[in-house]
Amino acid sequence: MIKEINGRKFELLVTSEDITKKVEELGKQITQDYNEKNILIIGILKGSFIFLADLIRGIENRTEIDFIRVSSYKSKMAPGDLEHVMDLGTQLKNRHVLLVEDLLDTGGTLTYIKDLILSRKPASFKICALITKNKSREKNIDPDYVGFEIEDKFIVGYGTDFAEEGRNLPDIYVIED
Ligand code: IMP
Ligand code: MG
Repeated sequence: MIKEINGRKFELLVTSEDITKKVEELGKQITQDYNEKNILIIGILKGSFIFLADLIRGIENRTEIDFIRVSSYKSKMAPGDLEHVMDLGTQLKNRHVLLVEDLLDTGGTLTYIKDLILSRKPASFKICALITKNKSREKNIDPDYVGFEIEDKFIVGYGTDFAEEGRNLPDIYVIED
């Protein structure tokens, strides 16, 4: 199935059924690992909002949710400077923080936010990324939970965008060569 988004052609990479299964598995694993602890789940906007919404419904622990917004890809597909657009409203001291990200590319965004969170002294810190790109990263960052590892290609759908389009697609698409 081919979709045209912002004038570029994309093909189906991961179906919504496969995403649902994987997200349920992640929720079960997180429930098991956190063992009744209260989790503060932090989503990175905007890309993580759909993943986070599905993920938390598979987590049985008590949870609180907050969001942080950082913008890295200012336009189209070229990485720009990081911009810290919106901070958290929650105190992190002594909290069990689980950071939820749509996808890990260079690692720049996650490294920036990880450092920020750790400087606020949470009781524990873990990262859950739906997707990681299979590439050598400029930043050495290793998520504790990963949904899918994919090739180093541009994707769109299930919250991720191409110049702000395509976030509403239920499946994940990859750009055609
Ligand atoms: P990083 O800082 O290079 O790891 O990039 C992470 C952020 O860039 C993610 O939160 C995504 O929102 C965005 N990003 C990276 N690769 C893609 C992609 O293939 N499609 C859509 N957004 C992407
Ligand atoms: Mg993003």
